[in-house]
Amino acid sequence: RTYRIAVIAGDGIGTEVMSEGLKVLGRAAERFGFRLETQEFDFASAEYWTKHGRMLPEDWFETLSGFDAIYFGAVGWPDVVPDHISLWGSLLQFRRGFDQYVNLRPVKLLPGVPGPLRGREPGDIDFLVVRENTEGEYSSIGGKMFEGTDRETVVQETVMTRTGIDRILRFAYEQAQRRGGRLTSATKSNGISITMPYWDERVAEMGESFPEIEVDKFHIDILAAQFVLHPDWFDVVVASNLFGDILSDLGPACTGTIGVAPSANINPTGELPSLFEPVHGSAPDIAGQGIANPVGQIWAGAMMLDFLGEAQAAEAVTTAFETVLESGETMTPDLGGSARCEELGTAIAQAVDAA
Ligand code: NAI
Ligand code: MG
Repeated sequence: RTYRIAVIAGDGIGTEVMSEGLKVLGRAAERFGFRLETQEFDFASAEYWTKHGRMLPEDWFETLSGFDAIYFGAVGWPDVVPDHISLWGSLLQFRRGFDQYVNLRPVKLLPGVPGPLRGREPGDIDFLVVRENTEGEYSSIGGKMFEGTDRETVVQETVMTRTGIDRILRFAYEQAQRRGGRLTSATKSNGISITMPYWDERVAEMGESFPEIEVDKFHIDILAAQFVLHPDWFDVVVASNLFGDILSDLGPACTGTIGVAPSANINPTGELPSLFEPVHGSAPDIAGQGIANPVGQIWAGAMMLDFLGEAQAAEAVTTAFETVLESGETMTPDLGGSARCEELGTAIAQAVDAA
């Protein structure tokens, strides 16, 4: 088996952690007998913007659409290009253009990584946040009226479609099937009286196709509180675009350093490429020093292997970084150690052979 991977390292530590990600994935490919045919692209970076006055070439869609997946580092260099331009001009184009309607964030307390929640051990926190990534509260329908008067009014609509809700729910139910069989839905049907009751209705109806899944729902306010108070309650959590945005930052924050958190933007149809990236950005404050934590990039790579159908290799990569972190011997500064990015990457690559 051969998979074609578009590699976009981007800016700052994106380029540093990407090398380690590719190192580890290369080792997994060798061990499990498949090929990753990678092609590197220099766009979606501040340097490309400086040269061309845009973040992406005009034919980016055609260039990337034939790949099996996109492995992404981080984009943004605020001294050179404003953040709204670097983000809207690259990542958000990919999400929309490739209809990556699922954003997936695992929330897992890793061994050796001190989480901020007192008394929590690895094993207590292990769940998945599934966010709707294309519609909902983030619509551009609305406007401003009576501008400049004291009746000035702004309106912005939430758009939820049956197709849009059902496809994210189906994905979430299937994830629950693969995992512990429990699904939690984020709602706010006590306050948002049209869209959220509809969301609840679709959750219940989809549930009829998955009778073995245990479903519960929480209003978003108390759900956010429960993430912190009882993170052990959750297995798969599904949420609309806005609620999912909040939960998918809160979840990983409950498990420690941003340097280890991965994220996947998925088009489950497989007709267009999905994108796998660490949650963190380009970290200008530590870029160029070789001390970034590569685990987020490596974990994102494991998610990519899993998506491509190489579940065993994905598992081996995950076991590898967990083993290395647990031993505590090779820790980057954000984990309290003095190892370099490259050393941690190499240790994890070696552990893949034993995993
Ligand atoms: P950031 O995630 O780059 O950095 C936040 C803090 O976390 C910094 O102190 C940084 O040193 C630390 N950090 C981040 N990743 C780390 C790692 N792997 N190992 C150790 N420490 C790490 O967020 P910030 O500073 O708000 O944004 C910097 C640039 O990155 C901006 O241009 C922003 O727009 C962009 N950005 C891009 C993202 C993406 O490509 N998906 C996501 C977030 C920000
Ligand atoms: Mg966010």
